[in-house]
Amino acid sequence: MKAEFNYAGCNVFVAGGTSGINLGIAEAFARTGSNIGVGSRKQEKVGRAVAGLAKLTTGKAFGYCFDVRNAKAVETAIAGFAEEVGRIDVLVSGAAGNFPALAHDISVNGFKAVVDIDLLGTYHVMKAAYPHMKKPGGSIINISAPQAVVPMSHQVHVCAAKAGVDMVTRCLAIEWGGEGLRVNSVIPGPIDGTEGMARLAPTSEMRERVVGTVPMRRFGVPEDVARACLFLGSEAAGFVNGTIMTADGGWTQTGAALELDAVT
Ligand code: COA
Ligand code: NAP
Repeated sequence: MKAEFNYAGCNVFVAGGTSGINLGIAEAFARTGSNIGVGSRKQEKVGRAVAGLAKLTTGKAFGYCFDVRNAKAVETAIAGFAEEVGRIDVLVSGAAGNFPALAHDISVNGFKAVVDIDLLGTYHVMKAAYPHMKKPGGSIINISAPQAVVPMSHQVHVCAAKAGVDMVTRCLAIEWGGEGLRVNSVIPGPIDGTEGMARLAPTSEMRERVVGTVPMRRFGVPEDVARACLFLGSEAAGFVNGTIMTADGGWTQTGAALELDAVT
């Protein structure tokens, strides 16, 4: 991907940035020369991601192990990154969990697990980063999902959690906007080669069905989402605050829901 923005000297932290879409976002920032921090639960994934990111950036790459459900662990990791690099210019919060299941088949703990990771985890990440964010001039980007705006069968837990994420975005855009700290969400569409798509569209038949519902008639790639993040993190988006931006080929405009009966 060609570097369209210059983040040299900037510090970017991506929570959940060790695989899939979020790693694609971290790589895009790294290619523009930022110092980059990523973190997630699994040491092996963190190590692999940091090694790759270090090769891409002219700055430095840092990795942290934490579960976003553990507020203290998130706080320690983000404070550690801030201590290494100084202030944080761009924060991306994208850790999430998903499995397709009907509401009456999801245990209380299953529903809670997804809400705790997606919604509470996002709050933990934002709260931990807030004292370290560049103000004015900082940018926070929460990775949402079409489930935030399109109700879907087999996705009640994810729909509830991601709708909550977008409301957190909008509330904190108001609270923090006065300090020059912008908060926005990005809604990726169906992105090829990711864990999320593997879980929701595991068969070629499901994949074809999904593509058929995307107005642009293709899957997205992580770079499609990363470009939206590069924009939102930059001065070009200096007055963009509280928006829920889609990078979904128009998918959410159709109100198309995934028909997940075939998966479960
Ligand atoms: N159907 C129904 N319930 C399920 C399920 C499924 N496919 N997968 C997990 N659960 C339930 C479990 O049964 C458990 O509930 P219980 O204790 O009442 O039995 C609960 O969810 C938590 O499961 P556990 O495996 O202990 O959770 P975890 O905290 O280790 O993992 C998940 C969280 C379930 C979200 C896991 O899938 C995950 O870590 N996902 C991250 C990767 C991902 O989803 N990527 C795509 C992002 S879009
Ligand atoms: P992914 O590769 O599974 O990415 C999830 C990331 O979050 C991983 O780095 C994972 O690493 C980390 N993570 C998961 N649970 C965590 C926890 N409890 N604490 C800390 N880190 C945790 O999935 P993806 O499909 O690329 O999805 C990335 C984001 O895009 C998610 O927010 C998802 O909702 C959103 N999205 C995806 C699609 C899609 O088509 N895939 C569409 C719309 C929106 P560890 O396993 O090491 O923790």
